[in-house]
Amino acid sequence: MKSTDVVASPEQHGGDGSLAVETRGLAKRFGANVAINGVDLLIPRGCAFGYLGPNGAGKTTLIRVLLGLTRADAGTMSLLGHPVPKHRDVALARVGAIVDEPRFHGHLTGRQNLQVLAAAREPAARSRIDASLERVGMLQRADDRVSKYSMGMRQRLGVAACLIGDPELLILDEPMNGLDPAGMHDMRDMIRSLVAEGRTVVLSSHLLDEVQRTCDAVAIVDRGNIIRQGPIPELLAGTSLTLQVDCSEPDRARSLISSTNLAATTIDVEGDGLAITLPAGTSRDVFAEVARVLVTGGIAVYRLEPVQASLESWFLQVTSRLGDTA
Ligand SMILES: Nc1ncnc2c1ncn2[C@@H]1O[C@H](COP(=O)(O)OP(=O)(O)OP(=O)(O)O)[C@@H](O)[C@H]1O
Ligand SMILES: [Mg+2]
Repeated sequence: MKSTDVVASPEQHGGDGSLAVETRGLAKRFGANVAINGVDLLIPRGCAFGYLGPNGAGKTTLIRVLLGLTRADAGTMSLLGHPVPKHRDVALARVGAIVDEPRFHGHLTGRQNLQVLAAAREPAARSRIDASLERVGMLQRADDRVSKYSMGMRQRLGVAACLIGDPELLILDEPMNGLDPAGMHDMRDMIRSLVAEGRTVVLSSHLLDEVQRTCDAVAIVDRGNIIRQGPIPELLAGTSLTLQVDCSEPDRARSLISSTNLAATTIDVEGDGLAITLPAGTSRDVFAEVARVLVTGGIAVYRLEPVQASLESWFLQVTSRLGDTA
């Protein structure tokens, strides 16, 4: 898949608003520092989308530009089909966002903070406060001061603050930051349930594993450039896979496989067996051939399992390949 490949083509959607986010040639630099480098991003509605990249990749800057908190130097963008910044107010009425980390008045309670935020929104926002607090599991603690909240509780309150606007699109900057494993699990479930309601959730993260667990589609970004984007299963379909074979006499098994014309990239002896790396799209007939060669050669085969690369190993492959060619 090329760097220009996208989740869905604009022709498919005809600019009718069925995309939650669309950017074309979006660019932003700070002096000589390029934070967003001609980004084309197409995020369909109704999915959890991960904007994934290391520190300084330009994730927060992209979110700030989308929300009109920072001006882009070049390019076009739209949110929920509304061009921004031209129709920013209409678009943002249906968007809830947390940038950097949720900020609240510490001396006020969670509920009072939401009341302050609701006062700046449409009248219905106030009537959604209790439901939003309940939705994120914060109703019991709603009348405690925010200064007494844990990081995870602040993140939950941040999502509740988004929900009082009944948003079609939520944009969450590093929602897993500062959360312990149980907190991450809850956040992941919350995001999935928001998507199940038909909302779109865009989250930025540097946690590859979390994105893989939480999101349907991803854009991998490095130094302001999108390296790859698309549905996670499609991206993974382009990765190599490893055939793990537990067998007797691993060294002799390795020689036997090496002497065939099998299209293996590498064959390593690992523990009590072999790890055979095969190219993307290798047919399962090849697995059967490996078993046949070994058994015919008098090797006992105890287990044979194809393992698809995780998004993390795929991400590392991509970045190291870029490093090689730089
Ligand atoms: N206001 C600013 N002034 C100058 N440079 C900035 C500013 N904001 C961001 N940058 C630079 O732009 C680049 C992208 O920063 P950004 O905060 O968007 O990255 P990020 O992907 O969100 O990183 P992190 O994972 O650390 O949150 C960095 O090199 C950063 O130093
Ligand atoms: Mg950031």
